[in-house]
Amino acid sequence: MPAPRKICLLLCAFAVTTTACGPGDHAGQEPPVKDGTAKVKKDTPKPAKKVAPPPTWSWKLPAGLKAPEVPSDNPMTADKVALGHKLFFDKRLSGDGSRSCYSCHQNELGNADGRATALGAGDKPLTRNTPTIWNVAYHKQLYWDGRGAGLEKQMLGAWKGGNMGVGADNLDKKAAEVGDMPEYRPAFTKIFNLGEGDKVTPIQVAQVVSAYERTLLCGDTAYDTGKLEGAAQRGWEIFRDRGCATCHSGDNFSDGEFHNVGIAVPKKPGEGDIGRGKITNDPADNYKFRTPTLRNVSNTAPYFHDGSVDSLEQAVRYMASGGDKKVPGLDDKLQDLKLTDAQIKDLVAFLESLACTGKLEVIGDQKVAGIGDTPAK
Ligand code: HEC
Ligand code: HEC
Repeated sequence: MPAPRKICLLLCAFAVTTTACGPGDHAGQEPPVKDGTAKVKKDTPKPAKKVAPPPTWSWKLPAGLKAPEVPSDNPMTADKVALGHKLFFDKRLSGDGSRSCYSCHQNELGNADGRATALGAGDKPLTRNTPTIWNVAYHKQLYWDGRGAGLEKQMLGAWKGGNMGVGADNLDKKAAEVGDMPEYRPAFTKIFNLGEGDKVTPIQVAQVVSAYERTLLCGDTAYDTGKLEGAAQRGWEIFRDRGCATCHSGDNFSDGEFHNVGIAVPKKPGEGDIGRGKITNDPADNYKFRTPTLRNVSNTAPYFHDGSVDSLEQAVRYMASGGDKKVPGLDDKLQDLKLTDAQIKDLVAFLESLACTGKLEVIGDQKVAGIGDTPAK
């Protein structure tokens, strides 16, 4: 049990205050503890000193998941989550007002964007496939190449870079502008204890958006509750016993490591998207990409970092065949498993059972030209 929850329970139990864990808190929190002693204590005088309720947070964890780690300089609070939720859906955060964070992480598209590679602000074509936003709290290094060390840094990258198109030079101005909007200013003031003239900074925006992202947890599937059956159960056994789970490991089906599995490796070494190699400057890391989660994977076609494969079955066939043996530096954990068609179908059935059941709560009009069903301009 995380410490804040303990404090919350204690406070409630002594009826000093119920606001610390009352219904005003984030909807994702556990329901307030019913205080059996409150009625009995009707006549007892209230304590002389009013203790300010400490900021509390308790995870409402779906079956199969543990509480994610949270950076010590950005503790979770209900206020941050509520504000981050609104900002995640606000197109005014982007350089040209065309995109919110949600634009490329949509419910109907597996909380990705259904495109091979993303289409950024200003309709700028980007080079990589959009990953799902579920369970990003569990990745220590964000992005396919892991260049985002933590969600806060990742958010700053997406915001100033091609996704949202604000530009590094304009980020301070944009944060201040968003932070001064009448619907957001009071919340920023409260959360960060701002003075009247204080400008909201990019990192403060990144902190609240990251707090919201940490609540996007996907578990509770038949796999998590131990209720897999038939093809999905057989698929899980292949997945577990034949090596898929060495890289797609743990609750979130990712070891957080970088592997060369031979996707989009050109004939000439050093050309194309070299992935992790560009971050570490070590040629041994060329063409390595972070093992993606497989949560919700049946809803996030097309596949791989370049979106080069259209169907889940094709992606599974590729992985189970041991990858492209002609590729130098191919990870030797990838083996030709010599599976039958029926076994491939079982693997697909298992992956389908990892579909996320939840939805992000949408705020406002989130149609974007060129993404999903909305035709390009
Ligand atoms: C134009 C589409 C687009 C928009 C808008 C967008 N994203 Fe993304 N997102 C992507 C793509 C593409 C990637 C992968 C990029 C890469 O790996 O180089 C990504 C990756 C991520 C990741 C990392 C996922 C992982 O598995 O490592 C997170 C977290 C994320 N985005 C959050 C956000 C936030 C927060 C915003 C708003 C500030 C945002 N996104 C806006 C397309 C988008
Ligand atoms: C050596 C580590 C490793 C092993 C073993 C492995 N994978 Fe992967 N898997 C990866 C990496 C890395 C990627 C991303 C590759 C890329 O996009 O360049 C990936 C991508 C995938 C994808 C596409 C996900 C997406 O969102 O685009 C699926 C599906 C998948 N793997 C399933 C499997 C299955 C099934 C097995 C077992 C037959 C398996 N993998 C074995 C590392 C591994």
